[in-house]
Amino acid sequence: MKALCWQGVNRLSVEQVPDPGIVNAQDAVVKVRLSTTCGSDLHLLGGYIPAMRAGDVIGHEFIGEIVDIGPEVRRHKVGDRVVVCSFIGCGRCWYCSHDLWSLCDNGNANPEIAQMLLGYESGGVYGYSHAMGGFKGSHAEYIRVPFVDYGAFSVPDGVDDQSALFASDAAPTGWMGAHLGGVGRGDVVAVWGCGAVGQMAARAAMLLGAERVIAIDRYPERLAMTERHIGAETIDYSSTDVGAELRERTGGRGPDVCVEAVGMEADSLGPQQIYDQVKQQLWLETDRPVAVREAIHACRKGGSVFILGVFTGTVDKFPLGAMMNKGLTVRSAQQHGQRYIPMLLDRMAKGQLATSHLATHSMPLDEAPRGYDLFKNKLDGCVRAVFRP
Ligand SMILES: NC(=O)c1ccc[n+]([C@@H]2O[C@H](COP(=O)([O-])OP(=O)(O)OC[C@H]3O[C@@H](n4cnc5c(N)ncnc54)[C@H](O)[C@@H]3O)[C@@H](O)[C@H]2O)c1
Ligand SMILES: [Zn+2]
Ligand SMILES: [Zn+2]
Repeated sequence: MKALCWQGVNRLSVEQVPDPGIVNAQDAVVKVRLSTTCGSDLHLLGGYIPAMRAGDVIGHEFIGEIVDIGPEVRRHKVGDRVVVCSFIGCGRCWYCSHDLWSLCDNGNANPEIAQMLLGYESGGVYGYSHAMGGFKGSHAEYIRVPFVDYGAFSVPDGVDDQSALFASDAAPTGWMGAHLGGVGRGDVVAVWGCGAVGQMAARAAMLLGAERVIAIDRYPERLAMTERHIGAETIDYSSTDVGAELRERTGGRGPDVCVEAVGMEADSLGPQQIYDQVKQQLWLETDRPVAVREAIHACRKGGSVFILGVFTGTVDKFPLGAMMNKGLTVRSAQQHGQRYIPMLLDRMAKGQLATSHLATHSMPLDEAPRGYDLFKNKLDGCVRAVFRP
């Protein structure tokens, strides 16, 4: 079959690779209908994620049709149209049974690497390095889905592929940020990043009762999209002092909840950018936490900050003093999608959650390297490129 393979830093190619098959009794094989790029893939492309090997198939957000199942699959059958959570949860371990699905003890087939880096291993995810399980990704014609009873969700008839696709990762990630960030009625919420994840966090905050949601980015088309499709206010950080503007818009108090949806390749127009880039190049820090720093500074006293952006290791100039003295709650996680996906599909079916506008570009899988170029460099208004195998 055809698949998009990582070949080294900023090098991707479409190759012929072996077809996947059933390995364990709870597996399914899914014929991919659509698969999309994610900001997390940019960290792979940039060479920031350890334990990638040339030839690895990438991609982790997808919708497809089940074409084969193992003998112990109970909740799905061949022919089901399913959206699959990007993180692999067994459904039975302590973490899965506590709704902490991305921390599953049985999802990561190569725990040793992450144990060394993180203390305990994180869960497994499709197409995201050997440290995260070494699973083949979804930018392919077919994909093996372990623990399919728990990771795959049948899509209601009224929800089209392009909308449901984002229930795989961007929508549950955004929802988790707002939910576990503690958004409540009447809150003012600020969201850093107007990519798919930030937009979904902003929409979730509204649906959870926020009174005002303010989203921050620098790309005019992303800011405009967030205003039009999500209904959030926006701030352009390239022309505004974000901290001062947030203080101004919140009557001097600051946002109640701050959601960071930017990640380790955050951009800044000030001297921080040079500082962080030099330290990152010299491996004195692995990640550039510009938006995390800003969120911690901007948050009101006693407020909460949720970090959705992906980070891999250590950062410098982390504002521990601001966090401690202002009494902030700072939380983070990889997405616990299995907890939210049925509810999100239901909201899509009821017209409460629009996602299809995120797919600004759609193309055959053969053109995926071009899609990543558009997405990485934010060309032609690209928010997400969607591939059709
Ligand atoms: N926690 C999870 O489970 C999970 C799941 C999916 C994605 N992610 C992560 O979420 C992040 C966003 O993903 P995405 O797909 O939306 O990516 P994206 O690249 O499309 O969007 C990131 C946005 O952040 C903006 N940005 C950069 N620096 C900024 C700054 N200083 N202030 C405000 N905005 C800034 C960029 O302009 C861009 O629009 C990535 O780090 C990704 O790895 C996490
Ligand atoms: Zn993703
Ligand atoms: Zn588990």
